[in-house]
Amino acid sequence: MKVLILGSGGREHALAYRLVKDEGVSEVVVMPGNPGIELSPSVSTIGENENNKEEVLRIAKDLDPALIVIGPEKPLVMGMTDFLEENGFKVFGPSSKAAELEGSKIFSKKIMDKYKVPTAKSENYPSLKLALKGLDSWNFKKGIVIKSDALAGGKGVVVTHSREIAEKTLNDFMNSAECSVTTENVLIEEKLLGKELSIFAICDGASFKVIGRACDYKRIGDGDTGPNTGGMGCYNPINWPHGSILERIEKEVFSPILKGMVKEKRPYKGVLFAGLMIKDDEINVIEFNARFGDPETQVLMPLLEGNLFENLLAAAKGNLEDTAELKISNKQALHIVVASEGYPSIDNTPLNLGHPVSFAKSLVAGLQKKQNDLLFMAGVKKDVNGALVNSGGRVFGLTTIAKDLKQARNIAYSLLKKDLRFTGAYWRSDIGK
Ligand code: AMP
Ligand code: GLY
Repeated sequence: MKVLILGSGGREHALAYRLVKDEGVSEVVVMPGNPGIELSPSVSTIGENENNKEEVLRIAKDLDPALIVIGPEKPLVMGMTDFLEENGFKVFGPSSKAAELEGSKIFSKKIMDKYKVPTAKSENYPSLKLALKGLDSWNFKKGIVIKSDALAGGKGVVVTHSREIAEKTLNDFMNSAECSVTTENVLIEEKLLGKELSIFAICDGASFKVIGRACDYKRIGDGDTGPNTGGMGCYNPINWPHGSILERIEKEVFSPILKGMVKEKRPYKGVLFAGLMIKDDEINVIEFNARFGDPETQVLMPLLEGNLFENLLAAAKGNLEDTAELKISNKQALHIVVASEGYPSIDNTPLNLGHPVSFAKSLVAGLQKKQNDLLFMAGVKKDVNGALVNSGGRVFGLTTIAKDLKQARNIAYSLLKKDLRFTGAYWRSDIGK
């Protein structure tokens, strides 16, 4: 059976690498993918734009896949799942109404408050005037967080203790033509303290299976300095929080949100990614995402044992509970992202692109049978001579699997120094430390 994956980054490469190993899957096609992804065996790429409904439908009709897996949030929020299901395909990914859990922070907050999912206290302001006046009622000593209601790719959140910065942020978000996350509605919430945790569950509308948790290094610089990025590295599993907190996360977060979404007539199917803040025994949801994390998927996929394809298909059909178990192996996976010079370019200055990317081909995920070092390709394209060059912010990422974190880290950093190169390549040197 064939699987079609929509998306083009390291996350989609990791999904393809993992799904093609499952019994029952003969071939995985990624749309549009990238020319690095298709180096993996039995994985090919097709098409141009995963957001173009007519193009996706044409390709899906040609391929006739048993399952379509949607990677990024944009096609989910714009209703790609609904559209493909109306055309008779099985799709792993939420409907546009369910994907609003990620697409609108205000909707997400309303649902959390209504169904008593623990989250930071917040207020929604529907105009700049009301938001500026609303600042009077917030305690800047404790800190506040301002969130744009637009789908923001990580750029729509500002955490601050300064009223001056808060006012400037509100003006940018609500009254600036240049700002990329302009919104008519803004959410202000209290700043939470603690440690962040990403946790992932596969959901079929009614039930769910937690498939792992990971920690994500969001800032560009070592020691968590500099601007936010899509994620510069991660590892899985992590040795906290302890069992009783994990049970509470299932009972107090996943369970009520899924029940709530059924009551709202927006049953949630697909992967639900909860970003949590944990402080001692206190659990709070920072945000929900309607998709797998990138790069978290690159450490989740290699450790999942069992038939993932059957589970995703069962989730798409609404019968996850009857499907064979998925287990997380007892090994340790660590992932380091290699980015182009200039990333994340918050001021939109151009990245240093177009340089030949050199890497040991044998590292590409899936090229060796019993492989512990896996290269997942993201921002690469072919130049006029057919050579791979860097073409985006995050260019590729290396996952290493070992018996413990120290070993995984040592192997990853020595491979990066030895085998993986392009002019201006940048990576953090403290992942897993
Ligand atoms: P979000 O897009 O909602 O995940 O926010 C991006 C990042 O902002 C999160 O990963 C946190 O580091 C930070 N953040 C968001 N909301 C809060 C909050 N209420 N308290 C503290 N940090 C937050
Ligand atoms: N790595 C964080 C995300 O995918 O949103």
